[in-house]
Amino acid sequence: EKSQNFLRFHVFKRPFYTVKCYCTDTGKLHKSDKSLSKSLFWQNIQARKDEASRSILVRLSGKTSEESLLQYCTSHGKVQHYFTYSQQQHERYALVEFKTSDGIDLILDRAYTPNSNGHVQSRFLSFSGSSQGSDKVSTSQCQQVNKDIGFAELYKDLAVAESVSDQLGILTSKLELRDPETRLRFVVCSLIEEAFQQILPDCSLHLFGSSVNSFGRRSCDMDMFLERNTAQGVVPKKKGKGQYKLGYDGPSAESERAAAQATLFTLASFLEKQVPHCMSVSRILQAKCPLVKFRHYATGLSCDLTADNSIALKSSELLYVFSQLDPRVRPLVFMIRHWARHHGITNRAPGYWITNFPLTLVVVFFLQTRPQPVVPSFEYLRSLADESDTSVVDGTDCTIPGDLSKVEPSQNTQTTAELLQEFFSFCTTFDFESSSLSVRTGQLGPKPDRFSPLHMENPFQTQLNMCKNVSEGLLKEIQKHSQYALQMMDVPGFHGPGSESEVIHPWGIGALLAPLKIRRNGKRSALANSNIGDVLRGLSRKSPKTATKKQPRHNSN
Ligand code: CTP
Ligand code: MG
Repeated sequence: EKSQNFLRFHVFKRPFYTVKCYCTDTGKLHKSDKSLSKSLFWQNIQARKDEASRSILVRLSGKTSEESLLQYCTSHGKVQHYFTYSQQQHERYALVEFKTSDGIDLILDRAYTPNSNGHVQSRFLSFSGSSQGSDKVSTSQCQQVNKDIGFAELYKDLAVAESVSDQLGILTSKLELRDPETRLRFVVCSLIEEAFQQILPDCSLHLFGSSVNSFGRRSCDMDMFLERNTAQGVVPKKKGKGQYKLGYDGPSAESERAAAQATLFTLASFLEKQVPHCMSVSRILQAKCPLVKFRHYATGLSCDLTADNSIALKSSELLYVFSQLDPRVRPLVFMIRHWARHHGITNRAPGYWITNFPLTLVVVFFLQTRPQPVVPSFEYLRSLADESDTSVVDGTDCTIPGDLSKVEPSQNTQTTAELLQEFFSFCTTFDFESSSLSVRTGQLGPKPDRFSPLHMENPFQTQLNMCKNVSEGLLKEIQKHSQYALQMMDVPGFHGPGSESEVIHPWGIGALLAPLKIRRNGKRSALANSNIGDVLRGLSRKSPKTATKKQPRHNSN
């Protein structure tokens, strides 16, 4: 298709139709990701990617004032968004988003290279300049990013809530990724992608997992995967002559894993030696899904890099879709993820724990199986997809509907607090031994094998159990902690200022998240941890000793 002096010659792959344009005047090849998707998930990702491509990350040297950086930037182009942050003491960084990338091109043209140590040149710069009126420059004025809120602050906020449901909303807003954190993730991903493109020109890097699935907390890791051969098909395929057929040679399916391991090995060395601020690189190439872990120093982000993992991005989209279907999903998932981490049920280190992804699907399954479902089954959602939603990844149907307006709102009227209590009850009574959980059908299924204590069907690759590594012991832990939680939720005054009895201290989810010592007879005892105890004592509204009368169950809206 010819338009003006641009020759468009390649369109590929959902959900973005990447359009490659060859400019007939300059001979330059241009690439633009054009979102033609109606899915909010892909539109958000595309908008963030676009924002990131027009942004620079700048380290402010010494006492250089923010004003002088801003002045310098605005003299090169219109600045659309700007913020500073601090990771370590005495270090300040700024993220500057320009309205168009012309400003960045000018700035990069003028940037000097301090030495020729082989580091890649990127949109990550260092700025030193005037410190006009900035004797006061201090990192304490900059916001902290990618760090969780401290427990003392969290407990204070929870204490002044009006009900447990209100507390769940507060917890979500205090833990969730904020705009600067999301921006930084997309910028870091685009900087690393550009660096990789110097050795793999046709690769692209995608964020997935909690950075994009709407359940990310400020300190969550940054999952990325590398996609290779995105230019596949750029060269128009010509028919072979006669009986001859000419094709590109490539790795066989069996050697794909070995190829991924080799690529990741090379990229790990490249990151370590040549990409600024990428440190503590470790290669975990023998894992089921080979990966490279590293830390991005300037943002404090822990990064996980895998190869060709498109299906994981579809899993992230699926979680995002469930989060959009009902306003109670996110607060409940944030609470359960936080509670599980608090009790050591989930853990970042590999082991017999359940990870956040399957744990979130357990919550989704629970919401699907209420007498009045809160969210529908994945199969039902799929029935609403139209042809343009069709997505097949490595032969697996990963179709997810883009238009969620067709989904009828839930008839369930329970509060988030009631659902939380019911979730704990679900965990204690569920027959894990003989049943399998399926988010796809939204129903229990027979367990295909008796070897794994917990069976959660992968929504796309249904033959896979996502909880294969979960041990019997961990399952018992989950049930034990759920039992404790249920007992606590039954204590009069648990439900805070809204309850008819006197408020216990700490109340609501503050009590569920505080370290507890459980007596042998199973009854709850006072707080064991003196530090948290001190904080909470200061917040006490009424003495816990007064809350002994048995009262009717919760009253929590
Ligand atoms: N994943 C998967 N199967 C699993 C575990 C993970 O397919 N058994 C994929 C999912 O796409 C998930 C992604 O890997 O979204 C990232 O997994 P993980 O980092 O464990 O979950 P997050 O949702 O990113 O949570 P966290 O905040 O703990 O990083
Ligand atoms: Mg993650």
